[in-house]
Amino acid sequence: MPTSADFQDRMLSLGLARVSEAAALASAKLVGKGDEKAADQAAVNAMREQLNMLDIAGVVVIGEGERDEAPMLFIGEEVGTGKGPGVDIALDPLEGTTLTAKDMPNALTVIAMGPRGSMLHAPDTYMDKLAIGPGFAPDVVTLDMTPGERVEALAKAKGCAPSDITVCILERPRHEEMIAEVRAKGAAIRLITDGDVAGVMHCADPDTGIDMYMGAGGAPEGVLAAAALKCMGGQMYTRLLFRNDDERNRATKAGITDFDRIYTRDDMVTEDVIFAATGVTDGALLPGVKRELGWLTTETIIMRSKTGSVRRINYRTPVDNN
Ligand code: FBP
Repeated sequence: MPTSADFQDRMLSLGLARVSEAAALASAKLVGKGDEKAADQAAVNAMREQLNMLDIAGVVVIGEGERDEAPMLFIGEEVGTGKGPGVDIALDPLEGTTLTAKDMPNALTVIAMGPRGSMLHAPDTYMDKLAIGPGFAPDVVTLDMTPGERVEALAKAKGCAPSDITVCILERPRHEEMIAEVRAKGAAIRLITDGDVAGVMHCADPDTGIDMYMGAGGAPEGVLAAAALKCMGGQMYTRLLFRNDDERNRATKAGITDFDRIYTRDDMVTEDVIFAATGVTDGALLPGVKRELGWLTTETIIMRSKTGSVRRINYRTPVDNN
């Protein structure tokens, strides 16, 4: 079995771009068609097919669900030709199924790869998340602070007023109090209806105008966001949230023993990682798949934490090939 020491992220990053491109092209056919499941399935099929062409001995650690729930790209599925390095794969073939079905912004296909054993096996539960971009001292904001305290602390660190801070939050009833507290400090909130991987990534991209992400979302998406931030720079703090014993059992099965643990970005992704995402619908980070007569065009961002490199690849392909 090849070892993680062979992990050639430089070579593999371009292969990873093809994987996320393929998923985006497949799900793009279902943008605005009102069918979340079909859009997701198309992305899953395409991502799996491309992934299995890569010379890796990959194991899906963040995937479509547990083996008995997901027929493809389930947690533990072995992917790749088996001929290359042993790697962990975290993926979300379509992050924002509803965004895609409704043709709303920021749907992405997402995949990250790191050496075997380098990614948190996050169970399919919720996770409390807090993220900021690069350039701040460690722990300038923490999960133990109230939402209002976080706004004040970040404003102080930035040397601006709380009213100059913009926070990104998922619009959910569970966040009503958080939203009220942040607004009470005078900060602005960019509410998103879905897609918190992009939400977290926004903090590390000044062009988006977002300073901080907070709130509860999917734990698997938390690990993908941590992989992205490890490449872009920025801090992230998370804690798993459990609503019932079934969710606690899922965590135990995933090897988690401390249910109250706070994870930093580097606790979730412990070694260097490569990350690729392709836009499905237009968003602040990436344009969506563009259709012109006879042609489809995608844009993919590929990042390597080892070097901090960020590439954007435009790919144009004849419609007939897709
Ligand atoms: P889908 O890709 O399944 O549509 O979900 C995306 C998402 O918005 C994530 O980005 C987020 O972490 C999670 O769902 C939030 O879960 P919920 O919709 O249950 O609040």
